[in-house]
Amino acid sequence: MTVLNNTVELPDRRIPPELVPETIVETLEPAERDELRARIKRLLKEQDAVLVAHYYTDPDLQSLADETGGTVSDSLDMARFGHESKARTLVVSGVRFMGETAKILNPEKRVLMPDLAAECSLDLGCPADEFSRFCDQRPDRTVVVYANTSAAVKARADWMVTSSSAVEVITYLMQKGEKFTWAPDKYLGQYIQEQTGADMLIWQGACVVHEEFKGIELADLKRQHPEARVLVHPESPASVIEQADAIASTTGIIRAAQEMRAKEYIVATDKGIFHKLKEAVPGAVFIEAPTAGRSATCKSCAHCPWMAMNTLRKLARTLETRGNEIHVDPRILDRARVPIKRLLDFAESRRKTIYGANDA
Ligand code: 13P
Ligand code: SF4
Repeated sequence: MTVLNNTVELPDRRIPPELVPETIVETLEPAERDELRARIKRLLKEQDAVLVAHYYTDPDLQSLADETGGTVSDSLDMARFGHESKARTLVVSGVRFMGETAKILNPEKRVLMPDLAAECSLDLGCPADEFSRFCDQRPDRTVVVYANTSAAVKARADWMVTSSSAVEVITYLMQKGEKFTWAPDKYLGQYIQEQTGADMLIWQGACVVHEEFKGIELADLKRQHPEARVLVHPESPASVIEQADAIASTTGIIRAAQEMRAKEYIVATDKGIFHKLKEAVPGAVFIEAPTAGRSATCKSCAHCPWMAMNTLRKLARTLETRGNEIHVDPRILDRARVPIKRLLDFAESRRKTIYGANDA
């Protein structure tokens, strides 16, 4: 469906279902798993490499990152950690835009990923040439893009934000009288608009994982668990967001659970986060928010198919072969760094208020 806003056309930018791969989770015998973990630890050390992992990846990868001096965090802290790390090689366990951000910030470092096919539906739904034409239609607007975009889209932007920083950045820019072109996530865009009252022209993309969370079914589940607190990532539809006790980035969700100290939580984000949530609030019960409607079935079912491509076997192979290196076109690298650096500098100046920051 095409929406009209201020005479600018806003066509649907969600990717077709056939572009979404099956979510395949690697299963390993305990002996192979132990051997892989030991091998990866040795290789990381030999190659002066650190593991920068997202909460949605395999719990084994998250534990390895913790045990070897790497990090497990949200997009903002992944970027920050990679930038501040002294290691010569960054192994980004996440999706492509996270690897690209690491490379853009650290062109002198080698950036590897367990699987270069690990994409993101938001990134795939926002091709740089079309996005650039969209921005050209309203050149008076400040272009703010979500981290979940390609290097080429970032190169067209004035600012990059993450879910932990979006509302603060837009509020700050609004106070200077700015209006915005926003991409790619329509749900996050609507949420920011509602929180800030900003004038935003919103690209109509969506995350295939979060879009599957269902408002009516969540209301039913809440009735069955009246004491449960609801934690929601802002890439979810408005009908889900409006039932939340906390709306936050992945790090923000973990912090909120720690602060609430409830016995039960319903969680609307990728189920990979349950590993850290259980560590953060031992003994609490975490329930997946419903992803299938009454008659429908989910496709990704709260587990990002691209995040699941990060496996122990692929990580070991990547380190052994030194393959799967991320490269960013040198013609756009410096320009793409501008909006990312703006965010990092902004976040640094507000370290206490930007929720996602591990060290806030
Ligand atoms: P966070 O920055 O909150 O970790 O979000 C990244 C992401 O891709 C969520 O789907
Ligand atoms: Fe992209 Fe959604 Fe996967 Fe996050 S969960 S990486 S937004 S497809």
